[in-house]
Amino acid sequence: MKRKKVVFSGAQPTGSLTLGNYIGALQNWKFLEKEHNCLYCIVDLHSLTVRQDPEEFRKISLSFLAQYLASGLDPEKNIIFFQSHVPQHTELSWILGCNTYVGELNRMTQFKDKSERNRDNVNSGLFTYPVLMAADILLYKTDLVPVGEDQKQHLELTRDIAARFNNLYGETFPIPEIYTPKIGAKIMSLQEPTKKMSKSDENLNSTILLMDSEDIVVKKIKRAVTDSENVIAYRDEQPGIKNLITIYSCLTGLSAEEVVSKYEGKGYGMFKTDTAEVVIEFLRPFRKNYEDYMRNPDFIEKVYKTGAQRAYELAEDTMILVRERMGLIQK
Ligand code: AMP
Ligand code: TRP
Repeated sequence: MKRKKVVFSGAQPTGSLTLGNYIGALQNWKFLEKEHNCLYCIVDLHSLTVRQDPEEFRKISLSFLAQYLASGLDPEKNIIFFQSHVPQHTELSWILGCNTYVGELNRMTQFKDKSERNRDNVNSGLFTYPVLMAADILLYKTDLVPVGEDQKQHLELTRDIAARFNNLYGETFPIPEIYTPKIGAKIMSLQEPTKKMSKSDENLNSTILLMDSEDIVVKKIKRAVTDSENVIAYRDEQPGIKNLITIYSCLTGLSAEEVVSKYEGKGYGMFKTDTAEVVIEFLRPFRKNYEDYMRNPDFIEKVYKTGAQRAYELAEDTMILVRERMGLIQK
């Protein structure tokens, strides 16, 4: 029988999930769960590259798990877990780090951006962040990694590290492929539509959070920056409108062209009102599910404990092979 493909992805538990996270990543996670063996991780160790308040961090991490489930991920079909519960991630990260060049890490644009933004805390974890990400992926012999466009460079590095390891120590890791949505791989900021929508944006009007109330969604979309062309067209010269069309399209399943023709001759005001409505309709069941899960901490705990156990077994199988290949004495 053909081996089912392995899918791995994750998000950092910081702030709150955005519509960009959902459209760029989680929507595909849900789509892939049908026919693949999927692991969806909350990469809490990655979040430690930026200082966290421990009490708050614990709450956010659990809330992320509820947000994964509220997005519709099935905990029976998928392995859903916290990265820090499976110690092989950090073990493999060390080994891969010894096979990654400083020059390669220096080229990572996310490192450059983040060290600019956190000048008082350019720690070595921030620098080796992509190695831990490569370990997350390779630990499960992953074939497909559904992420947004901003993770492309990290994926390329993961592929290079895997190929190098295979060359040096023998075939061990499949070379993972990136899986991005055809449209929506980079949802833009509502305030600066040439920049990606980001959890960590200080301007709250830039970002729609999955947890936003209906009033807030309406306000944010009304205030979204557009242009003075007054035509609803899907083109790079109108990044604000293009972004709203993308959001509309991804949440309704209509193509961008269909959205454009639906609003031919209509004004921005009406288009924004309808886009807000589409977002609200999408968020309504999400919020209801989220609240139900948050009222049920025992269930949440069961999900992450079971997830960690299943992930641990798969991870240990790979590590036995990796330790063998590297010449480490087996336990
Ligand atoms: P992060 O928020 O960095 O933890 O990202 C979690 C996942 O969401 C990754 O797969 C990102 O590529 C994806 N993602 C984050 N922001 C966006 C965005 N604005 N548009 C599309 N995908 C995104
Ligand atoms: N770096 C990713 C982000 O910021 C999160 C991440 C960590 C990840 N490990 C991963 C994504 C492994 C996919 C696979 O979005």
